[in-house]
Amino acid sequence: MNPLHTLEVGLGERAYPIHIGPGLLDDATRWRKAITGRQVLVVSNETVAPLYLERVMAGLDGVQAASLVLPDGEAFKTLEQTARVYEALAAMSASRDACIVALGGGVIGDLAGFAAASWMRGIDFLQMPTTLLAMVDSSVGGKTGVNLPAGKNLVGAFHQPCAVVADTDTLDTLPDREYRAGLAEVVKYGALGDADFFAWLEQRAEALNARDTDTVAEAIARCCAHKAAIVARDETERGERALLNFGHTFGHALETECGYGSLLHGEAVAIGMGQAATLSTQLGMAGAADATRLSSLLQSFGLPVAAPAGLDPDALLAHMRLDKKNLGGRLRLVLWRGIGRAQIVGGVDEARVREVLTARGLPGSL
Ligand SMILES: NC(=O)c1ccc[n+]([C@@H]2O[C@H](COP(=O)([O-])OP(=O)(O)OC[C@H]3O[C@@H](n4cnc5c(N)ncnc54)[C@H](O)[C@@H]3O)[C@@H](O)[C@H]2O)c1
Repeated sequence: MNPLHTLEVGLGERAYPIHIGPGLLDDATRWRKAITGRQVLVVSNETVAPLYLERVMAGLDGVQAASLVLPDGEAFKTLEQTARVYEALAAMSASRDACIVALGGGVIGDLAGFAAASWMRGIDFLQMPTTLLAMVDSSVGGKTGVNLPAGKNLVGAFHQPCAVVADTDTLDTLPDREYRAGLAEVVKYGALGDADFFAWLEQRAEALNARDTDTVAEAIARCCAHKAAIVARDETERGERALLNFGHTFGHALETECGYGSLLHGEAVAIGMGQAATLSTQLGMAGAADATRLSSLLQSFGLPVAAPAGLDPDALLAHMRLDKKNLGGRLRLVLWRGIGRAQIVGGVDEARVREVLTARGLPGSL
């Protein structure tokens, strides 16, 4: 099978390609055409830049190119670091036709994308995701933003990239735990809307664990196709796009309560998907067998499926009440009717959620 996949996010005049496959960083002919201006700022971080920045810069001959290397970590997804991007743009006298290249994981993509959305009211940016999570999720769809002390992603903008270039070779250097956390988001696409893809993942768990190049590239392409289709139908999350949050309301509460950094985002989402599936079973929406299948698949990827012991369910519920999806002071959650059939459910009874949050067993076993 051809290891290179190209898809399109169909947003009319703002449509853009997603290229996925090995060797893309060095294949500038494939991505240079997305850069139409004569000025480019590559934004990366101090972990990714030593590995890949030089190769990207080598593909930028003939334009005025500069780079900015930020510190690594979610703690630096801030307005302060965004200001450094503005300063770098100012230093190169960047005009409206300048382009930012975001080289890194979701943190760099979100921050550099937000800088692009706001510099001179919006310039182009090109996503070069280097984590599995960024390849299957954050680089596609145009959600950009940074954190405030008051909360995650509180400042941001919808701003679509001009292209996404996912060089799967970059995953070779990604730490195992980060790779597995990305697999949680891969499972999410099967769980929320594609039972065939879910079964495909079950059959290929071994190849994915071994990071088989073609299998990984195909999995990324299938996830991106899903996300692209949903984004094309509901760019600004007025409806269907919220389904992509399957497992996330529970997961965000866990991330916040455990403290950022102790659970990776994907790990929290894995636990959260199990909790959403269990609640669906409790509410009579889906059979317990589907929740069990979900937890088995997550476990086969080495992901956690039970919440850490000792968490306060009331504190978790308090975090869940702050979720952007809630309406009229009542919880609105993405639950499911079984594998591939996620659904938004409003007015969820907090007592039922509390039971799931205090359960110590595996998903489906309440
Ligand atoms: N915009 C969206 O739609 C969206 C969706 C999901 C998540 N997010 C955001 O994405 C962020 C999480 O993204 P992430 O999981 O990619 O985290 P990350 O960007 O922090 O990357 C994880 C770690 O891997 C390192 N790394 C990245 N690529 C590497 C490589 N190829 N080799 C070695 N190390 C590498 C990074 O330096 C970092 O230490 C969060 O801020 C989250 O809010 C955004």
